[in-house]
Amino acid sequence: MNGSESGGPVAPRPAPPATSRPAVPRPAAPQYPAGRYHPAEFGYSEVDHDTARRANRGYWDATADDYQAEHGEFLGDADFLWCPEGLREADTHLLGEIRGRTVLEIGCGGAQCARWLVTHGAEVVALDLSAGQLRHARSLSAATGVEVSLVQADAARLPLTDASVDVACSAFGAIPFVADSAVVMREVARVLRPGGRWVFSTTHPMIWSFPDSPGTDGLTVVRSYFDRRAYVERDRFGRATYTETHRTVGDRVRELVAAGLRVLDLIEPEWPAGHDRVWGQWGPVRGRLFPSTSIFVTEKPARSG
Ligand SMILES: C[S@@+](CC[C@H](N)C(=O)[O-])C[C@H]1O[C@@H](n2cnc3c(N)ncnc32)[C@H](O)[C@@H]1O
Repeated sequence: MNGSESGGPVAPRPAPPATSRPAVPRPAAPQYPAGRYHPAEFGYSEVDHDTARRANRGYWDATADDYQAEHGEFLGDADFLWCPEGLREADTHLLGEIRGRTVLEIGCGGAQCARWLVTHGAEVVALDLSAGQLRHARSLSAATGVEVSLVQADAARLPLTDASVDVACSAFGAIPFVADSAVVMREVARVLRPGGRWVFSTTHPMIWSFPDSPGTDGLTVVRSYFDRRAYVERDRFGRATYTETHRTVGDRVRELVAAGLRVLDLIEPEWPAGHDRVWGQWGPVRGRLFPSTSIFVTEKPARSG
């Protein structure tokens, strides 16, 4: 049993590190219900695939209720939001044509994006590692009447046949957490049909260097951009309970190119005027100065000849 799920007595978590934790959008530590998720320590180390998968499955199971309670309203029940800056697929059309297309959503959480895709004529498979998140996806589908085909699986081992989807997408799902995102890029390239798009949003690589804070205390570099060791939280037995990984911009491009994908665009959303909602370290103070989100727009080249 994973430490985060044991419910047993755990050491009180130290104040969330105001140091260099590059958190992705997720509930702030003080909002976790007592006994559900309280890592005993945190730091930077190498992490392997199975450790990251186990840790993040336990983490997202333990925090799914909090995540949906905190962010559900902003996400909408059937809306495609790319990032805390508020970019929507309805406005950006990064996926290209979706009507009549088969779309795979990776790390779907409550499947809000998938539901939006269904209402716009796509046939969607939505995948997530966490049973806790998929439970929310099912109840939101029941509440909205918009059904989505849900699968519990790891992004690094997609349970789909080669060249079986037209479009793949992910809004902060899986990519920030897997130990080796190059494997995910290869898997997506495998299941995409030639000419298909793969678009994903993830933490902007540069925020790895800054403290995990949306305010002015988040504006000073405290960590090397070039340090690729994972951020790891552990329970009192030393077991990893949450991991987050870092790739530089160059790493991401190399992983995509090595997977046979073509990079069409890299979007670094600016913080919109009048948008004041803070989400983890995402917020207007820092967001007006530098990007916290990156959105990679790629495609699998169509077969020539
Ligand atoms: C920040 S949430 C984003 C969820 C949703 N896309 C949204 O915008 O609300 C990250 C999601 O990625 C999922 N995830 C983490 N690691 C994964 C993996 N290896 N494979 C598939 N999903 C994963 C988590 O369970 C979680 O639901």
